[in-house]
Amino acid sequence: MSSIGAVQKDGGMADKGGFPHYMIKEIFEQPKSLYATITPRVAAEEDSVHLEDVHIKPEELQALRRINIVASGTSRHAGMVGQYMIQELAGVPVDVDYASEFGYRNPLIGPGELTVVITQSGETADTTAAQREAKSKGSRTIAISNVVDSTIAREADGVIYTHAGPEISIASTKAFTAQMAALFLFAVHLGHARGKVSTERVNTYIHELLEVPGKVETVLRSSSDCQRLAEEYFSMEDFLFLGRAIHYPIAMDGALKLKEVSYIHAEGYPTGETKHGPNALIDETLPVVILATCDRKDEGSVRRYEMSVSNIKGFKKQSGRVIAIASEGDDEIGSLADNIVFVPQAPELLTPILEIVPLQLFAYYMATKKGLDVDRPRNLVKSVMRE
Ligand code: AGP
Repeated sequence: MSSIGAVQKDGGMADKGGFPHYMIKEIFEQPKSLYATITPRVAAEEDSVHLEDVHIKPEELQALRRINIVASGTSRHAGMVGQYMIQELAGVPVDVDYASEFGYRNPLIGPGELTVVITQSGETADTTAAQREAKSKGSRTIAISNVVDSTIAREADGVIYTHAGPEISIASTKAFTAQMAALFLFAVHLGHARGKVSTERVNTYIHELLEVPGKVETVLRSSSDCQRLAEEYFSMEDFLFLGRAIHYPIAMDGALKLKEVSYIHAEGYPTGETKHGPNALIDETLPVVILATCDRKDEGSVRRYEMSVSNIKGFKKQSGRVIAIASEGDDEIGSLADNIVFVPQAPELLTPILEIVPLQLFAYYMATKKGLDVDRPRNLVKSVMRE
């Protein structure tokens, strides 16, 4: 069984550990990879976050004017989640860019700004180029990577390694959730350095984060529900994944997972945008997967949840078929959606780590039901090192 930790550059092929495919093994490794990413960074008394390789002084963090997050594919979806975490906890404006687009917009960045590049492999050509451009314009850089001494990690001013262990499947799963955990740790660390997060709140956030691996374990126990969903929706040729706010990036990644392993077309969209066009598509031939979780302690989350309930009612009036990802204890959505997968209650900023898991499982079971090479999808490579 591969050890869980940051992957050494010459890290050999992990074994499948008794699973039929690397993808399902890596999905089920997420409690361990999250725990391995979180625990070395939280002090025993859980009142501070230690990011040993960041090497950016507190005074620099306090003076930061802006953060640019640049990444590709799933790693960019992690960056989109990180934008909400950092803006909410640290009060620093954050922009998120596709690495492949970053150079074209002549980014107006410079000293006093931080560029965070997120990359599982640490070798993606677009992301390497983006980091080099940011550095040439005077920005400090931090890499979030799963591979020790990878090109991008080596060239960054600071690094936050995810300790997900070797991720062999081309579809990124455990690296993605580990990236989101790393971004949450960074957001707490930055917020504390800037006086936005008190020591007491740091303690609370760390406790909440340490509960996430166990909650992912709970979600994994619903894998048979996700397999049944694949049986039911197997013949569908198009899907629309919807999410609001911090859940929109998860809708994007759920759609990407389905596309890349099952070759079924899927789009991720902000839920509120459906009325500006996509609604015309929704009927019994286009199933909707909607993230409709709710953190009852967060009034913004409750407001967004109520809007999603209204959206579901509208889709049902159009004969739409709705798969909802909802929070345990929700007794309203069950009577509205055609199918529902529950995830444990969690704070709004941490729920994305839980709600991507059923979407990963759904994509996996759709692909295996089609008899596809789920670990090596056609036309794709694990690390895109050239255009
Ligand atoms: C994710 O499932 C895809 N395989 C792909 O989008 C990937 O996230 C992207 O190529 C970025 O890779 P990186 O994290 O190694 O830079």
